[in-house]
Amino acid sequence: MPEARVAIDLDVPGPTISRHLYGHFAEHLGRCIYGGFYVGEDSPIPNEGGIRLDVVEALRALDIPNLRWPGGCFADEYHWKDGIGPKADRPSMVNTHWGNVEENNHFGTHEFMALCELLGAAPYVNGNVGSGTVREMSEWVEYLTRDGDSPMVRQRKANGRDEPWKIPFWGIGNEAWGCGGNLRAEAYADLARQYATFLKDHGDNKLYRIAAGASDDDLNWTEALLKSISCLGCGRDPKNIYQAISFHYYTVAGTWENKGSATEFSVDDYYRTLSKAQDIERVIRAHSALMDAYDPERKIGLVLDEWGTWWDVEPGTNPGFLYQQNAMRDALVASLHFDVFHRHAERLVMANIAQTVNVLQAMLLTDDEGGLVRTPTYHVFEMNKGHHDAQSLPVHVIEPTTYDLDGKAMDLVSASASVKNGQALVSVSNLDPAAALDVVLDLRGGSPSEASGRLLTASKPQAYNTVADPDAVAPVPLKLEPEPRGLRVTLPPHSFATVSLVL
Ligand code: AHR
Repeated sequence: MPEARVAIDLDVPGPTISRHLYGHFAEHLGRCIYGGFYVGEDSPIPNEGGIRLDVVEALRALDIPNLRWPGGCFADEYHWKDGIGPKADRPSMVNTHWGNVEENNHFGTHEFMALCELLGAAPYVNGNVGSGTVREMSEWVEYLTRDGDSPMVRQRKANGRDEPWKIPFWGIGNEAWGCGGNLRAEAYADLARQYATFLKDHGDNKLYRIAAGASDDDLNWTEALLKSISCLGCGRDPKNIYQAISFHYYTVAGTWENKGSATEFSVDDYYRTLSKAQDIERVIRAHSALMDAYDPERKIGLVLDEWGTWWDVEPGTNPGFLYQQNAMRDALVASLHFDVFHRHAERLVMANIAQTVNVLQAMLLTDDEGGLVRTPTYHVFEMNKGHHDAQSLPVHVIEPTTYDLDGKAMDLVSASASVKNGQALVSVSNLDPAAALDVVLDLRGGSPSEASGRLLTASKPQAYNTVADPDAVAPVPLKLEPEPRGLRVTLPPHSFATVSLVL
């Protein structure tokens, strides 16, 4: 059997992997909010204030650090005042981006904050630049975070909430180059400065303001934002206006017109998908290098607030609802992203999978009869929890073979590691769809007193979970064998594993 070597420097802890790299995203899109997170108080499905309790319970096991809401594209047509007060009085609107369905605004600010409290997640609110106003966004911050007495505070109290909430993260619009207004980079750069000025810190609430960034490797967009808040070599503190710049990167293996099926794909499709996922590293490097030029002290964070696979919708479902299945291949897309995130933890401060329930690369798929499925991607998030706020460790992979994809040598082994409170966690993926692989974990600079492993794999990369077969893809114990310099594990084809070490 071919053998790979993964060398880990246990005694060289690097930058902290923010737990916010494991962030989430819930948009008013398809069945993410309605039917996913929220079923309404009259539903026979067990709920608290309309929020589905089986969803909360499943997600609590992931220690979700933050939840971005209400969009996405929806954020730039959302008017928050329509989503407060008695539900019967809330006006409806048309969700023009996602299926042209009527949005009744029954899930609004108070419901979102209740959801965050149930999940134990920090709220990341995305404001409306595209069709909103500076005043509207500023008043939303006041409504949410101000204490004492003020016009917005009186409204909040009248709606049943006396205490202000804490809002750590605030997005200034979304995809302003597209659905958020079709703006030019320079025009948005000015708007972001203007909006940020009126996003006030009320009391001791400190907002981390995130400007809406580029798609993929559109470095011109990122540079326009950087230029507007900084200048090459002039020493001006760039973080006084906003504190982070986002970007979005989706794993679309085909074309936007023909993205391919989530569950029916060839070996070639499989490799192309994983290669596209690996490319996130090149994109992060490019944005980071540009940011290093304008912000050498790394005061501005890079936020990837939308990522994940995007397939053709499941046959027979509304094309505007972006409902897709989630196979073992998706789990590997997630594990590859996390390895890259861990390596770039110094600049990349947050990432949000799109999206948490029933949309795109979801953690959970639900139905209206009370069925709930944990996807293969869910298990990667759960198995990787030990990386939250741990320090990244240097990892070197020496692999026996690569795959030739159109002349490009593609790595078939991916790994990362971290250490926290005397415990190390190693994550390693074998991307080969057909061959098992022996991996020697070459542990340098420390010898663990205890070790345990978990494995996620399936009969084939196309395997997925359903209500009838919920554990077709689920973690099982991984056998570890001692080696003179560490441990040996056998990874089946298309598998992901974690090894926990007590140091
Ligand atoms: O996540 C789905 C959509 O993808 C979001 O609304 C938008 O920001 C992006 O184009």
